[in-house]
Amino acid sequence: MKIQSVTNIDKSEVLVYCLPKTAKITLSSQLSEFQDDLDRIAKLESFTAEAKKSLLLYGKGGIKRLLLIGLGDAEKIHSDSYRIAGGIAGNYAKKHHIQDIAFIADKENASPFCEGLLLAVYHFDELKNIKKPKKDYIISSITAISDADLSAELKEASSLSQAVNKTRDLCNAPGNHLTPQIFAEKAKEMANNYGLSCTILDEKEMEEEEMFSLLSVSKGSDEEAKLIVLEHKPTELKSDDTIALVGKGLTFDAGGISLKPALNMHEMKRDMSGGGAVFGAMQAIAEMNLPIHVVGIIPSSENLVNGKANKPGDIVKAKNGTTIEILNTDAEGRLILADALTYAERYNPTYVIDAATLTGAMTIALGDVVTGMMGNSQELMDLLKRAGEESHDRVWQLPLYEEYDEQLKSPVADIANIGGKLAGSITAAAFLNYFTKKYKWAHLDIAGTAWSEGKVAYKPKGSSGAAVRLFYQFVKNCLK
Ligand code: BES
Ligand code: ZN
Ligand code: ZN
Repeated sequence: MKIQSVTNIDKSEVLVYCLPKTAKITLSSQLSEFQDDLDRIAKLESFTAEAKKSLLLYGKGGIKRLLLIGLGDAEKIHSDSYRIAGGIAGNYAKKHHIQDIAFIADKENASPFCEGLLLAVYHFDELKNIKKPKKDYIISSITAISDADLSAELKEASSLSQAVNKTRDLCNAPGNHLTPQIFAEKAKEMANNYGLSCTILDEKEMEEEEMFSLLSVSKGSDEEAKLIVLEHKPTELKSDDTIALVGKGLTFDAGGISLKPALNMHEMKRDMSGGGAVFGAMQAIAEMNLPIHVVGIIPSSENLVNGKANKPGDIVKAKNGTTIEILNTDAEGRLILADALTYAERYNPTYVIDAATLTGAMTIALGDVVTGMMGNSQELMDLLKRAGEESHDRVWQLPLYEEYDEQLKSPVADIANIGGKLAGSITAAAFLNYFTKKYKWAHLDIAGTAWSEGKVAYKPKGSSGAAVRLFYQFVKNCLK
């Protein structure tokens, strides 16, 4: 893909111009050939550049189309307005198979617009027998037109968006195309391509590590669990921090003996979205070579049913010695995360952040708009809140008061793996909190945000790639 920053352009398949709401639109002299048509059509269609509204004009010269996209009221414009505008442009390009896009850019809009564009043209059709040109459609050229040189912004935005799209590919893949083994192979391949180190622990090595909470989940499946560890440790560091990102990597969650209902069970192929987000974030961090030590840890397993599967009432001992009564085998994410979180201690991390599609209750509480966050460090959660606003991959804090621990009491083990009916997302975090005492930690429940219904211009239906942009922004902010 060619991405370039130029000061002038006289040829383009489609030139995009984003503008705030206004009663009368006046184009620059360079675009004067469109002015008469614009005056006529804008009046006919009452186009005033309201947010998310667009108007297409055809040219007679080198610029074949001019796509005007509204940003809405000037005082309400923020970076996501441009990401959405990029998304609208991307959807237009995808629909008409246009591969070459130019846009009128400035320092403020270049990154989010480019992100929105590349995130919107994403499509997952590798397993579908459809005809070209839709299949394999890609954008081949993005040109920013600006007096300033915006190549660095464009490079970063495209690396990050491609990483998000990589996460989406992983999360959209069905369980038979992405097993823990395949996930691990893909991580190895990505690590080779982007200069990360990658270690994969198999079940025998995890036994030596006494990760019996994690292993209890994979016992119920023929596929071996894997612990995928990706490490970015550049020679030149500009921060003393070490950040560990931990992602739930259930390549399929049937619930185990506490079997899920059949309706919509297929959606549980996406139960590795936290692991997918860690994968994508590590790729972007490596590609941009951020000068900071970051470790990505992805415990990956299936949660199925066989004669060896966890049974309700079973008690297992986690790596940190805590005994867990498994009252519901469908609360498996926390079982594998428990040991992965203990494993993270060896890096002596400044901050540990986990992302997981952990609870259905989170989708009820916050929907697909914002990720739920809980943790043991207000300092870390404030940093994440800020990174979330900046990347528009937002988080909303829920409380983790001690009182919630009451629900996890077990008469026969140190803790139970589920609480009662109330505050299911919080009791899940309260469970994880038994394994995070040695560092500053935040938990992101992305059960609601990992999937998109296709209502946001730059989030096609399917995996959204939630938390990749957030992680990237957070790590980048640690350098300031
Ligand atoms: N993977 C699910 C959570 C989930 C549900 C994610 C819906 C996305 C959409 C998780 O493993 C699970 O099954 N959690 C249970 C916990 C319960 C047994 C305490 C749940 O949320 O029902
Ligand atoms: Zn489950
Ligand atoms: Zn699950």
